[in-house]
Amino acid sequence: MRMKAAVLRQFNAPQPFAQSRPLSIEEVELLPPQHGEVLVKMGGGGICHSDLSVINADRPRNTPVVMGHEGAGEIVECGPGVKDVKPGDHVVFQFSPSCGRCRRCLEGRPQVCELGAATKAQGHLMGGGSRLRDLDGNELAHHTGVSCYAEYGVLDRGSIVKVDNDLPLHEAALFGCAVMTGAGAVINTARIRTGDSVAIVGLGGVGLSGLLGAVVGGAEKIVAIDLSDEKLGLARQLGATHTVNATDPNHVEQVRDITNGGVDFAFDLAGTIKAMETAYNVTRYGGSVVTAGLSPSAANFSFNQSNLVSQEKSIRGSYMGSCVPVRDIPRFIDLYRQGRLPVDRLVDRTIGFEEINAAFDKLQSNATVRQVLVPHGTA
Ligand SMILES: NC(=O)c1ccc[n+]([C@@H]2O[C@H](COP(=O)([O-])OP(=O)(O)OC[C@H]3O[C@@H](n4cnc5c(N)ncnc54)[C@H](O)[C@@H]3O)[C@@H](O)[C@H]2O)c1
Ligand SMILES: [Zn+2]
Ligand SMILES: [Zn+2]
Repeated sequence: MRMKAAVLRQFNAPQPFAQSRPLSIEEVELLPPQHGEVLVKMGGGGICHSDLSVINADRPRNTPVVMGHEGAGEIVECGPGVKDVKPGDHVVFQFSPSCGRCRRCLEGRPQVCELGAATKAQGHLMGGGSRLRDLDGNELAHHTGVSCYAEYGVLDRGSIVKVDNDLPLHEAALFGCAVMTGAGAVINTARIRTGDSVAIVGLGGVGLSGLLGAVVGGAEKIVAIDLSDEKLGLARQLGATHTVNATDPNHVEQVRDITNGGVDFAFDLAGTIKAMETAYNVTRYGGSVVTAGLSPSAANFSFNQSNLVSQEKSIRGSYMGSCVPVRDIPRFIDLYRQGRLPVDRLVDRTIGFEEINAAFDKLQSNATVRQVLVPHGTA
């Protein structure tokens, strides 16, 4: 079938993107779902920093590619062998495909499925190859097996999680990345305990989801840290007990003062080495740093080794919030319904295809939390 999609052909276009238009809105060809795949009508695609990092070449991927990895939609057609979901079902996408059979998958860690990671790196689906072509017949890569900046998509059955149909799809989209990553880092990776003190470094869609996760998880002190006073204000409304602006040269001392020596858990949810350094330095003796931010591929973080040992700190990576999506997405949606994870507060606006390049300018300048593409008209 023919459909509209946002295609990235070249990295590192000059800014503003609204003028250079790195994402071209094209008519493309979507091939039918093969065995174990579904055709989905896209309902929402979140504008996440991980897409920006591909566009601005911080973390390049195979091109040409149909971008978008945080999304939700409605099943239109099931390919052969797909019997447990049906047309009309609403689904949220998981951006890390998994095979369901390897050792990591069977340990309950699908986010580190090596077959999934290799397939994702190729820009293919788990069944092999791409279902996307441009109108000259050239293959287009799938982004993380999702490619939700499009009107429709063909996805592996393993890349979708069925959810109740009552949630608006542009809100459901956030559960596919920001919520899994942020709330998951706090609840699953760190497993914070009631009464712990927590620092959240970086207050975009991922960081504010982490903040909401810390509230749900019963953290006593929650120190929210960002470069933007506006984001610090929103963090206070969402449950931060304290806020600190990282542009202040004394920001580490401020956090230590607030928490009598540092936090039990510090989360880097920004994706810069400076933010990671802040997270490391505000962690108290015996505490842990959990990092889910993705800084540029070539960037290295260094730390004092003897300090790590003598203070018995730990540093842990967190991918997709260490989530088992089929377990955690419905669980987080239940918390949302109870009003305990007010994810809708993170959506600034919905946009159409024509605004997508400008939306990345806005994200780059830290002027937004979550914008959501609604491919079939404004929500
Ligand atoms: N681990 C995963 O599975 C995963 C999944 C999704 C996104 N990510 C990554 O998470 C990060 C956050 O994503 P997002 O969409 O929320 O991004 P975003 O751009 O919306 O938010 C980042 C925030 O960090 C703040 N920031 C930047 N430098 C800072 C510093 N030194 N100190 C404090 N705050 C600082 C910015 O002001 C901004 O508010 C990105 O690196 C993204 O690639 C990781
Ligand atoms: Zn696997
Ligand atoms: Zn994302």
